[in-house]
Amino acid sequence: MHTDTEKEYLIRAIDGFRRKIIVVSPEYVILAANAFTKKRFSKNIIGRLCHEILWNLDTPCEECPLGQITKTRSPTVIHKSSFLTQKKNYCHYFYPLPPSENMTDEIVDAIAMLDFDIPFVEGLEEKLQRSNAFLKNLILSSVDGVIAADRKGKIFIFNDAAVEITGYSMYDGLHKLMIQDIYAEKGCAYDIMKKLRSKDYGGKGKLKFHQVDIQHKNGMIVPIRLNAAVVYDGKEEVATIGFFHDLREEIKMKEKLEKTRLQLLQADKMASLGKLSAGVAHQLNNPLGSITLFTKLVLEEYALEESIREDLSRILKDAQRCRDTVKELLEFARQTRYQIKPHDINRALSRTLFLLDKQTLFHNIEICKHFAEGLPMVPGDIQQLNHVFMNLIINAAQAMGGNGKLSLKTEHLPARNQVLIEISDTGPGIPDEVLPHIFDPFYTTKDEGEGTGLGLSLAYSIIKEHHGLIEARNAPEGGAVFSIELPLDMPETTETDH
Ligand SMILES: Nc1ncnc2c1ncn2[C@@H]1O[C@H](COP(=O)(O)OP(=O)(O)O)[C@@H](O)[C@H]1O
Ligand SMILES: [Mg+2]
Repeated sequence: MHTDTEKEYLIRAIDGFRRKIIVVSPEYVILAANAFTKKRFSKNIIGRLCHEILWNLDTPCEECPLGQITKTRSPTVIHKSSFLTQKKNYCHYFYPLPPSENMTDEIVDAIAMLDFDIPFVEGLEEKLQRSNAFLKNLILSSVDGVIAADRKGKIFIFNDAAVEITGYSMYDGLHKLMIQDIYAEKGCAYDIMKKLRSKDYGGKGKLKFHQVDIQHKNGMIVPIRLNAAVVYDGKEEVATIGFFHDLREEIKMKEKLEKTRLQLLQADKMASLGKLSAGVAHQLNNPLGSITLFTKLVLEEYALEESIREDLSRILKDAQRCRDTVKELLEFARQTRYQIKPHDINRALSRTLFLLDKQTLFHNIEICKHFAEGLPMVPGDIQQLNHVFMNLIINAAQAMGGNGKLSLKTEHLPARNQVLIEISDTGPGIPDEVLPHIFDPFYTTKDEGEGTGLGLSLAYSIIKEHHGLIEARNAPEGGAVFSIELPLDMPETTETDH
């Protein structure tokens, strides 16, 4: 029994409590409410139907447990899908009021409805917490970025993968960012909303496999495949949720595949051209030998006029040039013997430079060496490799028109067990339309007599013979960069016949 004073304090305690407490009859009529609840509604709510006042419905809510509580007389928690919608829930915890003293029957005549949990009643709260925690974990640990935002664009779910993709911390995501801030292009969020509301992109309220760019905090653009959905409460849009799949790895893989395909194509082309060139070279070798020999003989044996001697010398010089080309062709077609031994690449490059930099072409070229210290020895045929270096260096000097900076760099790549060699220049670079062809035999952009178009194709086959890789690109600041990767684990044979 409570004294009147006690009753007054109890009522004040309940009224002072800043959560909703409502008492309803089994017929859904509101019998009492604490001051906090009453303040929320402008009208008088006592005597009115709870579903009418709280939810604006003509009939009781479908999931309302009132009817069941009058029978079971046990407290019940109902869990609305408030986890995603974040909607306020008035009817959360229900418990039947114990019968008053002047009641004879043990019937339930009133039920208290709270918008909060009484912890651990019959383990319900715990179960609910567990299932919520499970859902949360599911979202947080998703490999795709998961971002949900309310109708105004305020983000309320921002998982670890979203942190990784966007570069923003979870705190920034949840408190500083709006959903429209993460896209690279302005108006993108609006466009996505428009597509979500249309039926044409995976059904109403859905958007499937939509490719979009987002902007990382550091300014980088990240390509994304987005699957998104509108979260509805009844018919009302309450939020959007998006699954952001980072496409960077996929795009990289595709590029790598395309590169491999082009390399295979190139190798194929080289192989058939190699056979052809070898045949032609062999057939040319003997007649060229005769031309050289007999011209020399005539020059030595006969007393000739100076003008005839000059003409014959010209024939001799040109025949020699033909023989040089034939020699290159034979090397290109791998008709030479390879001798694989460990070599110091830094030394080989220095020696090539030593041979070249006396030439007039190099007089106005500044040479920068960035050689790695303690570079491991590379298994290879040093004569062949010298040939590659020489071709690349001469190409660079020619491209710069004898004026500019030539840089040579070596680097050890332990993770890949390779040595990297880079030869770059400050010339005009390689035009886009030229780049795909430079390793093709006989491809040259130089004037007749200046280029054979064999230098790079020869370099390509030599590097391939060393199980390495040669590539050309343009540096962002201008000029061409040729990079060569040579493996360190090539079998060390004495002589390989080709
Ligand atoms: N460093 C470079 N800068 C710009 N273009 C280059 C460079 N190296 C090679 N090239 C291009 O590649 C083509 C093929 O080179 P290459 O096979 O050595 O033949 P060649 O030097 O006889 O023309 C050249 O004609 C030139 O257009
Ligand atoms: Mg060349």
